[in-house]
Amino acid sequence: MKEVMIVTGAGQISMAITRRIGFGKKIILGDKNMNNCKTIAKIMTDAGFDVEPFEMDLSSRESILKMIAKAQEFGEIKYLVNGAGVSPSQASIETILKVDLYGTAVLLEEVGKIITKGGCGVTISSQSGWRMPQLTAEQDEQLATTPTEELLSLEILQPENIKDTLHAYQMAKRCNEKRVMAECVKWGERGARLNDIAPEIIVTPLAIDEFNGIRGDFYKNMFAKCPAGRPGTADEVANVAELLMSGKGAFITGSTFLIDGGATSSFFYGSLRPEQ
Ligand SMILES: NC(=O)c1ccc[n+]([C@@H]2O[C@H](COP(=O)([O-])OP(=O)(O)OC[C@H]3O[C@@H](n4cnc5c(N)ncnc54)[C@H](O)[C@@H]3O)[C@@H](O)[C@H]2O)c1
Repeated sequence: MKEVMIVTGAGQISMAITRRIGFGKKIILGDKNMNNCKTIAKIMTDAGFDVEPFEMDLSSRESILKMIAKAQEFGEIKYLVNGAGVSPSQASIETILKVDLYGTAVLLEEVGKIITKGGCGVTISSQSGWRMPQLTAEQDEQLATTPTEELLSLEILQPENIKDTLHAYQMAKRCNEKRVMAECVKWGERGARLNDIAPEIIVTPLAIDEFNGIRGDFYKNMFAKCPAGRPGTADEVANVAELLMSGKGAFITGSTFLIDGGATSSFFYGSLRPEQ
């Protein structure tokens, strides 16, 4: 019987990671947009992967549970790649918080209840979550451990405390990192690992929407001035995921890995530093 892998988000980052680690496994590929899902499933099927497209909405627990149940028809779930998400130029504050923050938290929680021994997962947050003032220790702990159904009621996530869609996205991505730390403890009790990757601009349809959105110049300036001087590629994100999800990553869990061409460093100590 094949090992079973759940992938959310039929996007470029998910596909790049799945192509590295998914060969020979049963892959359930979930996305809200069935056009994307079928397109990516076909590309991968044509390349020899065993992919089942599945319509799902990351912002709905019911939908997540249906996807898990579908995957379990093929055996115990051993791998999770969460690359579904919306960006600040694509969605409202409410949608960003529901999909990127709440949905990711529910997915990590639900998969963590059934992940099999030796399993591992990776979720994609963002370097954006690092380009924000520190939260207090109490706020970080709230993001890490508040029961999922109460998360969106937190004071720090109320409309009067969220400036705009970028701020909502940054809070969501910060929450992803904290959630991974808290959830990895539970995943560890099942003999499984969970990690997070925080990329800066990676050329994908989501990033192209950002380049063409109101913050386009901001992003172009960011990658031009980061130490690497360019945006990244989904395959470079997959390099990190491959390490995390292979035996070579066996001692790594609960971690967030920045892959940002040095943009965060430049934000704090270089030419990307905001004017005081
Ligand atoms: N591309 C970048 O520059 C970049 C940088 C940092 C973080 N990220 C993060 O990486 C992840 C993957 O993004 P990508 O760049 O591969 O984008 P992408 O646009 O290639 O893929 C994202 C996919 O998520 C799907 N999706 C959106 N809302 C959904 C929902 N509610 N339920 C299920 N699927 C949904 C979309 O339909 C799309 O197919 C996102 O979480 C994003 O925030 C991307």
